[in-house]
Amino acid sequence: MKSPQVCSILQSIFFVLLFFTISSAADRTSGQDFVQCLIRSSSTSISKAIYTSQNSTYTSVLKFSINNLRFDTPATPKPIVIVKPEDESQIQTVIYCSKKHDIQMRIRGGGHDYEGLSYVAQVPFVLLDMINLRSINVDPVKATAWVGAGATLGELYYYIGQKSDTLGFPAGIWSTVGVSGLVSGGGYGTLRRKYGLAADNVLDARLIDANGRILDRKSMGEDLFWAIRGGGASSFGVILSWKLKLVSVPKIVTVFEVERTLEQNATEVLHRWQTVAPRLPKDVEMRVAANTVWKNLPNEPQKTVQDDGSGSLEDSKTVSVNFIGQFLGRKEGLLSMMNKRFPELGLEAEACTELTYIQSILTFSLFPADASPTGLLNRTAYKIPFKAKSDFVDKPISREGLEGLWKILLQQDPGRTNFLFTSYGGKMAEISESAIPFPHRAGTLYMMYMRVRTDGDTSNAMKWIRGLYKYLTPYVTSSPRAAYVNYNDLDLGVNNLQGPTSYKQASRWGRKYFKNNFNRLVKIKSAVDPGNFFRHEQSIPPFS
Ligand SMILES: Cc1cc2nc3c(=O)[nH]c(=O)nc-3n(C[C@H](O)[C@H](O)[C@H](O)COP(=O)(O)OP(=O)(O)OC[C@H]3O[C@@H](n4cnc5c(N)ncnc54)[C@H](O)[C@@H]3O)c2cc1C
Ligand SMILES: *[C@@H]1O[C@H](CO)[C@@H](O)[C@H](O)[C@H]1NC(C)=O
Ligand SMILES: *[C@@H]1O[C@H](CO)[C@@H](O)[C@H](O)[C@H]1NC(C)=O
Ligand SMILES: *[C@@H]1O[C@H](CO)[C@@H](O)[C@H](O)[C@H]1NC(C)=O
Repeated sequence: MKSPQVCSILQSIFFVLLFFTISSAADRTSGQDFVQCLIRSSSTSISKAIYTSQNSTYTSVLKFSINNLRFDTPATPKPIVIVKPEDESQIQTVIYCSKKHDIQMRIRGGGHDYEGLSYVAQVPFVLLDMINLRSINVDPVKATAWVGAGATLGELYYYIGQKSDTLGFPAGIWSTVGVSGLVSGGGYGTLRRKYGLAADNVLDARLIDANGRILDRKSMGEDLFWAIRGGGASSFGVILSWKLKLVSVPKIVTVFEVERTLEQNATEVLHRWQTVAPRLPKDVEMRVAANTVWKNLPNEPQKTVQDDGSGSLEDSKTVSVNFIGQFLGRKEGLLSMMNKRFPELGLEAEACTELTYIQSILTFSLFPADASPTGLLNRTAYKIPFKAKSDFVDKPISREGLEGLWKILLQQDPGRTNFLFTSYGGKMAEISESAIPFPHRAGTLYMMYMRVRTDGDTSNAMKWIRGLYKYLTPYVTSSPRAAYVNYNDLDLGVNNLQGPTSYKQASRWGRKYFKNNFNRLVKIKSAVDPGNFFRHEQSIPPFS
């Protein structure tokens, strides 16, 4: 006996199936037309660079550079076509055919986008994967490098290291992160207090604009060249390569690490760190990682919660506050400076390790210090599913404020979160807020980064991190509450992808990422891409 409800359920299943059949058939047809367009319009052998779901390697190519596993599920929308261009003209072809067939395009470098915007879209799209355009040319005499857009930081550091042991580049600390995403959103690492951001050290760039023209700094003009150094290149064009200014580093640097738990005055030392670290000489940088750890020794059984609620798990955890840093010099110099400037840290010689600069790069990327630098060429990333957010702090957080933060962190088990404090000051504070789109300069004490794993109960993890963000409201910057665009966060708002974008809507997150530079970015966008070809959930909109 069938009830009317069952009938209507069956009916809706039927319609859902019908809808998917029709829409995937439509995708396939538009995909076929699009592929035909690519093949017809390309003067080089583009078919070897095209992957559709018919090609057996489609899935592995798609997944290879998906860094955030939250966007690697069967339900995640997939590109109708992936193109891995072998030469620059093939990118022009992809742009031409995307416009002709009204298919949106996503551009992927290292694939570390926090919200998967380089490889996921809710509309039919082509994925332009820049992985094959990644040659690196280092000139150690002029201290410059031309870097192909698809290169990773590890590849960049490796090839600089091959030519010189006293040259470096102030980019990020994780080897599989892509150069293009990082540089075009700012990009910071251990050299930030000495040399500023990666984007502060760009001399030239080549890109393809919405009209398919290949431009360099001279032909694109200073406005567009300004916008792509921190404003997010994916709103403006396809970067082909960057010319970077390399910076000098000593042959030997010192890295150090001091761990304090809550029982070892962690709160007090971190409270001091907030004002000390941003005022230290430029040769020192200090970050802090604060996360829960078990109090028990690893081989002791973990405390379990009794049915009556006693023996709460929280009692068996504490927060470990880890002070991690790098000094551009030898151990003795660091120790005497730190014991004068920051005695509360209690830095001792045993906590310091002298390394060559390239070894320090390896250790910050979690390789053993004696690993071969060729490990930096490994593009296979360590991956987890996660959600992250950022904040900036311009006045020290009170002890009570920090204690409230620990309470929230203690709700999570060890290994689930990553909470980082990154000190600013030094060179970061000397560069004007409008020099490039990245505006978080003088007055910023440090940046906060919070991340939670989303495997297991995703909605609970999302709820937790949103609660943490809410908790931090009184302690962080306000109007705007600033955020780092390379830690993009769709909770801050999204563009309308199907129709026209709105300046007003986009200024909600745009002012957080760029403060007053947002308006200049919108002006430049309106001039160089008025048709809004380069768009995604948080791209810069043109004036309507
Ligand atoms: C594990 C990890 C560690 C990180 N460490 C740091 C760090 O130390 N310092 C720091 O500043 N940031 C860091 N980040 C953040 C990082 O800078 C951003 O996630 C950055 O956007 C990643 O760049 P990508 O090329 O790997 O990513 P992708 O996902 O490939 O791209 C990110 C954005 O850049 C665009 N893009 C990529 N290539 C091009 C191109 N050729 N032309 C135009 N647009 C392009 C994409 O369309 C997308 O909008 C880290 C991120 C992760 C996941
Ligand atoms: C994908 O399949 C098509 C059709 O068989 C073929 O022409 C193309 O070269 C394949 N792509 C790759 C990268 O092998
Ligand atoms: C913690 O701080 C107090 C007061 O400043 C001090 O007496 C004590 O020795 C410190 N403990 C540790 C483990 O550093
Ligand atoms: C590359 O890195 C991945 C992830 O860390 C690791 O599993 C793999 O073994 C590495 N490959 C090589 C050749 O070292």
